[in-house]
Amino acid sequence: MNTLLQEIKRRRTVRAFRTDPVEEDKIQAILDAGRWAPSGKNTQPWRFIVVRSEEKRAELGQLVPQRNMIATAPVTIAVLKHVPSGYDELKDAQGIGACAQNMLLAAHALGLGACWIGRARDPELEGLLGAQEDEELMLLLPIGYPAEEPGEGKRKPLEELSRTL
Ligand SMILES: Cc1cc2nc3c(=O)[nH]c(=O)nc-3n(C[C@H](O)[C@H](O)[C@H](O)COP(=O)(O)O)c2cc1C
Repeated sequence: MNTLLQEIKRRRTVRAFRTDPVEEDKIQAILDAGRWAPSGKNTQPWRFIVVRSEEKRAELGQLVPQRNMIATAPVTIAVLKHVPSGYDELKDAQGIGACAQNMLLAAHALGLGACWIGRARDPELEGLLGAQEDEELMLLLPIGYPAEEPGEGKRKPLEELSRTL
């Protein structure tokens, strides 16, 4: 099977991270994969804030305590929507979803793990991140070398999900 197709299936959400630092070139490669996502009218409404500072991660971790992910992962990428670049609420969200999936796959391809945290439009988090007035938080991606072996993925059978006309 084509490697890309194989890796799409092999990628799993990782929620526990080693504290080893993540190389800057890997973070740049993940951002670049996000940049190359499709978007409606090619508006590319995404913006990225890379959080490496231990202090900032601890602060964010207080607001997103889930499994301590943000405090322990060496890097968190916040994906924001630049509202003036967008043109349609649903299509902007679709594009940003594609961007996030590209980033998850890139992290996986580089031997890293990541978790999509769907905390969006949270004024407190946006304040901590220093988001601009015209930006909205869409999701957070804590990233690091995996400290857990995630289990097998589970999906509904295709027959339940698709039909042909
Ligand atoms: C829109 C969206 C929001 C998600 N939010 C969270 C979240 O807040 N916390 C979390 O632990 N996982 C979150 N996830 C990860 C899903 O739980 C995970 O992708 C799903 O269970 C399938 O597992 P897999 O990614 O390992 O295949 C989110 C995923 C998506 C796409």
